[in-house]
Amino acid sequence: MIYNFDEIIDRNGNHSAKYDERMKKFGTNDVLPLWIADMDFRTAQPIIDALTARAQEGLWGYTNRHDGYFEAIAAWQKRRNGWDIDTSLMSWSLGVVQTISAMVHICVPVGGNVLIQTPVYSEFYDMAELAGRNVIENRFVERDGVWQMDWADFEEKLQTADLFLLCNPHNPLGMVWDPADLKRMVELCIRYHVPVLSDEIHSDLIFHGKKHTPTVCVSEDAKNYVVTAISGTKTFNLAGLQASSVVFPNKYMKQKFDRFWFNMDIHRNNAFSLTAMEAAFNHGEEWLEQLLPYISANFDYVVSYCREHIPQIKTYAPDATYLMWLDCRELGLDNEALRRFMIDKAKLGLNEGWSFGRSLNGFMRLNAACPRSVLEQAMKQLEEAVKSL
Ligand SMILES: Cc1ncc(COP(=O)(O)O)c(C=O)c1O
Repeated sequence: MIYNFDEIIDRNGNHSAKYDERMKKFGTNDVLPLWIADMDFRTAQPIIDALTARAQEGLWGYTNRHDGYFEAIAAWQKRRNGWDIDTSLMSWSLGVVQTISAMVHICVPVGGNVLIQTPVYSEFYDMAELAGRNVIENRFVERDGVWQMDWADFEEKLQTADLFLLCNPHNPLGMVWDPADLKRMVELCIRYHVPVLSDEIHSDLIFHGKKHTPTVCVSEDAKNYVVTAISGTKTFNLAGLQASSVVFPNKYMKQKFDRFWFNMDIHRNNAFSLTAMEAAFNHGEEWLEQLLPYISANFDYVVSYCREHIPQIKTYAPDATYLMWLDCRELGLDNEALRRFMIDKAKLGLNEGWSFGRSLNGFMRLNAACPRSVLEQAMKQLEEAVKSL
């Protein structure tokens, strides 16, 4: 089947946060929504068919989480990443953010320290801080638009950390990690007895011939040490269904995690999420293989448009995720002025860069998972706005 990602689908009234929460987030509905990380594309047809059939059954009582669900996820990981998962060490979670929160509660004492590498997905800060834990930052260092890890700082910060949250691949910088770097990180974490949670939610969205390496696959030690959060919700645009998975290195950690949820009587999936995930991982590959080049071409469009028409804004095609990192520092605006500029002048709903790295000034994140024509409109609006400055 051929998918048409150019199709504009009106999501107004579809209860989509991206559209219907514009007033709450930006104070106006009059912005093109290129913020929260979901896509404006309809998902793969086999998923739609499976959900339609499930809906037709009309019976959605308490739902058993059967083996086929975990097996579909494990088979996907084996096929795409060469990762052999022992399904008896897998757990389910409402979402990756809930997994992060649970791991923070389980591994870090109140007042303890969660190590994150910033800029990073803002919930890494929030899940630690809302739980009364401290965030310690290993900041990426930027040189001429290239962001690199500060290893000496990482090792120093590990000495007081109780948990390391790794974003692999990385949102918002779009980096695919090198296996040697992952190995070195895990070795250091083991040396300083710091548990690792590897958030791999974006691991199917990889470009430019790069390859995702699951952190657990870098060494035997990593296999015995690292906890991994995976999900089909980013890959197949199913975030509203709320289901993800966690893979543990041993039964003890899995039990602790499962107990955390069981204490709130959270131990069953919603009936539709099970059906959708199974269909996605068993039959969604054809759709994904068509989606990836479309998104990659979207990146190229934005990069070349900025280079030719808006040179004050610097960006690059990320190797992973569908999120682009915009360096707007040349506009000479502070964070609040830049926020207002994007809303009032460019009429774009973007994520503010400082929410991913609180010390940053002048960055924005743009979600490029939309029809090309939407990006064309967005770039025109941005160009006009910059000219008016
Ligand atoms: C790195 C990362 N982790 C987790 C999430 C959200 O995960 P979930 O919807 O499963 O809670 C996102 C969403 O953008 C993300 O970028």
